[in-house]
Amino acid sequence: MSDFTIETSTQEPPLDTAMQVIYQWNYDPEVDELRKLYVKATESQWVAGRDLDWDRPIDHAKFATTPLGSPLPIEKCSYWKSLSEEQLWEVTRRTASFRLSQFLHGEQGALMVAAQLVNAVPHTDAKFYAATQTMDEARHVEVFARYIEKLDEIRPIAPSLKGILDQTLETGDWMKKLVGMQIVVEGLALYSFREMRNLTEEPLLKELLTYVARDESRHHAYGVQYIERCVPCLSDAARTELEDFALECSRSLIDQNAQGLFTTLLGIWQEVGADPVAMLTSLQSERADLMRDTPKGRRLGPVQGFVLPTLRRCGLFSERVATHFHGFFRENFGERVAGENVEQFMAHLPDLPADTARWVMGEIQ
Ligand SMILES: [Fe+2]
Ligand SMILES: [Fe+2]
Repeated sequence: MSDFTIETSTQEPPLDTAMQVIYQWNYDPEVDELRKLYVKATESQWVAGRDLDWDRPIDHAKFATTPLGSPLPIEKCSYWKSLSEEQLWEVTRRTASFRLSQFLHGEQGALMVAAQLVNAVPHTDAKFYAATQTMDEARHVEVFARYIEKLDEIRPIAPSLKGILDQTLETGDWMKKLVGMQIVVEGLALYSFREMRNLTEEPLLKELLTYVARDESRHHAYGVQYIERCVPCLSDAARTELEDFALECSRSLIDQNAQGLFTTLLGIWQEVGADPVAMLTSLQSERADLMRDTPKGRRLGPVQGFVLPTLRRCGLFSERVATHFHGFFRENFGERVAGENVEQFMAHLPDLPADTARWVMGEIQ
């Protein structure tokens, strides 16, 4: 007797979405760069079970280099250094498992949005590309789930991430789907995968992130190339609405993500028998020293360091919305991070890397 059922205890109640489907009768290549990207994607397909060696045990010593994702370099404070080797392994393992679980759930969201894009975007080249991205995202879900299974256990999705995935899936506007997924979520993912891939020395994790990040840099390129073509065709009102959607998505990510991450980290420290108060005291008193050696990119974080430069490149970063972003950053992180005024804030933003695929591999800054 099979134990297969249609409704499982792990599934959520269905989410109603307002997607419209568009047939396109022109099958000729129309947007050259998207057609090229699609061809490149078909040539770059890989197979998780064949191309990665899953029998390798996780290398504990090398795993210690896996970044914790905190804006403060927690691993450099004196309390952290006083923890036992066992506690350090446990805290690193559990923190990474929390972060990788967010990557995993984000990949599931990306899988579903990419599949929606196949239906919703109006150009054949864009439908073709979204089809390859759907396949990529399925593989990403597969590899993150397999790695977490070896490492620890899957932790629940952070409410902020769930909110933005819901919003992107629910909207009936395909351009909002593109902005929510290809710019905000993919930008955040690309930035985080790059950091983890380049810093971790754990061989299996590094290898799988190399494959995933290579795919993600194509996904980002798709978003940029398609959206920057579409934006000049929009009315002022439609562009404003799109800018506001990007602002809302980015804000909820920064806002609640910071709180969610912090609460989770405190919980993990307690789980492994570390004293959160002693850790916080150590971080607070050594803050100036800890920050001195931190590279600029880490202080900026994914939204300022990557999402906003992408919006600017796509023509979705008017002075109006930049002023909102500046106000929000100043409120949350102070003038040291945001700058005194919107001019300083804009001047602080880096340019997008000249070659995202090389940037994500750490070959260029
Ligand atoms: Fe992905
Ligand atoms: Fe992606």
